[in-house]
Parts: sequence; structure tokens; C-alpha cells
Amino acid sequence: MEYYTALLRELEDYAACCGIPIIGRAGAELLCQVAVERQPKQILEVGTAIGYSTLLLLAAVPEARIVTIEINRQRWEKAREMIIRAGAAERATLLLGDAGMLLSNLDGPFDFVFLDAAKGQYLDYLLKLLDKLSDGAVIVADNVLFRGWVHSEGFVPRRYRTLVKRLREFLAFITADPRFTTTVCDIGDGVAICTFRRGIR
Ligand SMILES: C[S@@+](CC[C@H](N)C(=O)[O-])C[C@H]1O[C@@H](n2cnc3c(N)ncnc32)[C@H](O)[C@@H]1O
Repeated sequence: MEYYTALLRELEDYAACCGIPIIGRAGAELLCQVAVERQPKQILEVGTAIGYSTLLLLAAVPEARIVTIEINRQRWEKAREMIIRAGAAERATLLLGDAGMLLSNLDGPFDFVFLDAAKGQYLDYLLKLLDKLSDGAVIVADNVLFRGWVHSEGFVPRRYRTLVKRLREFLAFITADPRFTTTVCDIGDGVAICTFRRGIR
């Protein structure tokens, strides 16, 4: 465990040095807490970066397997290196590419999904995943309140307006669709936790 903790610290330092966004401490605690409670068997992570949250999830649920997607080759290579060093290569499938393209080809079913890639694409990701979610699957989505702008009626800088609009559409969907039971936690940059129930109309 000490070795695993050292790998996580190494990734935190690497992320800080290279300006790579990884989940913050409060979000990480919540993510792991939900994973421990739900004990998923098949996790899907959208947005691997350098494998920090991947390693957190694998440690939180030692029986789980994970499929994780990253578009940036350098980050994907770093994640692969760290997952091998963690001795977790047999439990992890690391896909390199655009999640928007890859999701439709995944097999599933997944009982835990962590959305943490392009924030403006969350609804698109979710719609592509609907037939790959098991009954009772949990979806955790990070940064859903994006700098407080998603729930605010105040000024949003022009270059973030589309992203904020799309996050609002994502939240509206998971709040209104009866198949989802959703809680939005105002921690970090905002974390949505949804439970999916198949068959509810
Ligand atoms: C916030 S970081 C992920 C952090 C990681 N989940 C963690 O907490 O350790 C988001 C990542 O999503 C990747 N990404 C952005 N758009 C993507 C896409 N369309 N498909 C796959 N990955 C994407 C970025 O390259 C970036 O590394």
C-alpha cells in the first residue's frame, strides 16, 4: 500500500509540474466513497489523463475491472506506465482516442461510469452509453458546476458559454429523465452522482 500511495503522490507531482488536470482531493474522496459503497464490477472512465483517478478507483474496488479512455497520447502513455507499475495492468484496458467515437463500440455493461473528459460532451457520452449501463449503474460526473457558472445567472465569459450551456443541458437531462436519480454535490468544481434504473419510463 505504501508503494501504491507513493505512485499516487508521484502522479500528483507530475500533474502539478506539467499542468495536467486531475481530480481534486474532495472530489477524489467522494468518487472513492461512492465506488466503495457500490462495489462495481465493470467501471468505465471517460478521461484518463495520467491514470490518477484510474488508480484511485482500482484501489477503492479491488475486485473491479476498468476501461478508461484518453485522447492525448502522451498522457495515455504515462497512464499505461503507471498502471503497469501499480501491478494493475490485468484489470485495466486503456483506450487511446476520442471518447465520442469510441463509446458506441464498447461492449459493456458497465455498473459504474466516471465522466471526466470534455465537459461539453457529457450529454453526448451519456446518450451513447445508455444501452451499455446495467440496471442500478452509477454515473459520477466531475466539474458539472464549472466554476460556479452553471447554476449562476451571472456573467459567463464568451469562450465558456457553449460549455456552460451544454453542462446545463446535461444536468437538465439527468434531473428530468425518470431513469436517473441525481444528486449534485457542490464540492470541488461540482460533482453529479446519478443512479440509472432501466425500465423506468
Ligand atoms: C480532467 S482530465 C481527467 C483527469 C483524470 N480523470 C483524473 O482525475 O486523474 C480530462 C482528460 O480528458 C481528456 N479528454 C478530453 N477530451 C477527450 C475526448 N474527446 N476523448 C477522450 N479523452 C478526452 C483530456 O485529454 C484530459 O486528459
